[in-house]
Amino acid sequence: MSISPESFPGPAHTAQAESVAVSCCSAFYEQDWVRQLAEDIFHPGGESLTRRTVAAMKLPEHASIADLGCGTGTSAILLASQLNLQVSAVDISAANMERAAERVESAGIAMRLVQADVHDLPFSDREFDAVLAECTFSLFSDQARVLAEIHRVLKPGGQLAITDMATSGPLPGDMADMLAPWTCLADATDQETYIEKFKAAGFSVQEIADESESLNQMILVLKRKLLLLSAGSLMGGNSLPDIDPDFVRYWLNRFKAEVETGLIRYLRFNLQYAG
Ligand SMILES: C[S@@+](CC[C@H](N)C(=O)[O-])C[C@H]1O[C@@H](n2cnc3c(N)ncnc32)[C@H](O)[C@@H]1O
Repeated sequence: MSISPESFPGPAHTAQAESVAVSCCSAFYEQDWVRQLAEDIFHPGGESLTRRTVAAMKLPEHASIADLGCGTGTSAILLASQLNLQVSAVDISAANMERAAERVESAGIAMRLVQADVHDLPFSDREFDAVLAECTFSLFSDQARVLAEIHRVLKPGGQLAITDMATSGPLPGDMADMLAPWTCLADATDQETYIEKFKAAGFSVQEIADESESLNQMILVLKRKLLLLSAGSLMGGNSLPDIDPDFVRYWLNRFKAEVETGLIRYLRFNLQYAG
């Protein structure tokens, strides 16, 4: 069976369909086949980009950090277990939080996990030294409101790091329809628009890095994984549920081509609460 846009659960198919903030993305990343392909790493650049992003914050040991849109907890676990930070992790998806809780428990780590919408953060004012949002910011329906919430929960001088998709122009129509809702491209903007939003919310820009090479690496890894899963499926092992590998490969190639033209980029923003 081929994938079509209808194969991807959108807001209308999720339990949280009423929430303004729920994106197709949440339901998309809950699917088993997506986890099989991504292995619980739902952002380009994986662990090495997370390490670079956090290193640029120059946080002291045991600093408090909130991971917004934490998915199944991959980065949150890294932050707590290897970078010695006090982590609070938030995601809107019940399924993701359930999986994150299992992983945190089996790793024997202490961490606060909260299922919540980042538009209303369940945290006190000035609670955190830092906030991290990896591959999630562009999914938030009211980014100004989320930035105001981040501002509220950060201590003055606190750090905000965002890694996300960016575009340098409109996507081809068919690509926008197919990829945007579930690849953090839905509301990705160009670098300058991001900067305007951050500054308007009271953040100063410390560093911007072009991390687009991580998109190429991610595509390569996904293609290899797809090949292995297809081979496994042919041999009667683990199957790829309901997806046509050729169809996925086609869209990966289209995506790669637009990374090469510079239309699709991946950026890291290290920001500081200026107030
Ligand atoms: C592309 S995944 C990134 C997950 C994780 N940050 C990572 O890099 O592995 C996007 C995540 O954002 C979450 N998300 C989307 N909108 C949200 C919202 N309004 N509040 C909280 N989480 C949200 C989704 O459920 C999903 O787990």
